[in-house]
Amino acid sequence: MLQLGVLISGRGTNLQAIIDACEAGKVPAKVAVVIANDPSAGGLERAKKHNIPAVVIDNRQFRDKHIYELEIVKVLKEHAVGLVCLAGYMRIVGQVLLAHYPQKIVNIHPSLLPSFPGLNAQKQALDHGVTVTGCTVHYVDEGCDTGPIIVQSAVPVKEDDTEETLSARILEQEHHIYPLAIEFIAKDKLQVEGRKVRLK
Ligand code: GAR
Repeated sequence: MLQLGVLISGRGTNLQAIIDACEAGKVPAKVAVVIANDPSAGGLERAKKHNIPAVVIDNRQFRDKHIYELEIVKVLKEHAVGLVCLAGYMRIVGQVLLAHYPQKIVNIHPSLLPSFPGLNAQKQALDHGVTVTGCTVHYVDEGCDTGPIIVQSAVPVKEDDTEETLSARILEQEHHIYPLAIEFIAKDKLQVEGRKVRLK
């Protein structure tokens, strides 16, 4: 069974959605390890509640990003991870992780990429005045939120939305599409051709 390594920085609701989908048997995969770059990440407790190893690798303790990522790779290998899932992991993935997991790292982003990459995607959407935004699961490449797109879900922006209300509406969709994308990968249903991801 595909072993997942989930990288987080915060509360971990996407992590929870992934754990729940795996435990319910909807996704033929197992969360083998959760790694947080921030010791205060709430998602660590979620992992512990499900008896999943929860490891802190604090990026602030490393001067060199290569060494920081080598530490992550070491833990991922210890748990025989075959797919790395970024779930609210707020660091840019560097060369070391990419080299060890080519096309085996996925991310969820709270916008319809390529619109609004980077930080505060929901605020970017509100400030821009779009009437539709959403979320995207994509493969991770060397850019920031630029890799081939696996699944997207559109979400309406309402007249009176705040960053909080819009983020909550998007998050609900994130919790559907992230497990779905992982299910596709676990069942070996995806084929990547350049920028295009096709269902086999
Ligand atoms: C989610 O909205 C996710 O899309 C976003 O952070 C939130 C994490 O929530 N990720 C990014 O913005 C990555 N650039 P969670 O910790 O509850 O899953």
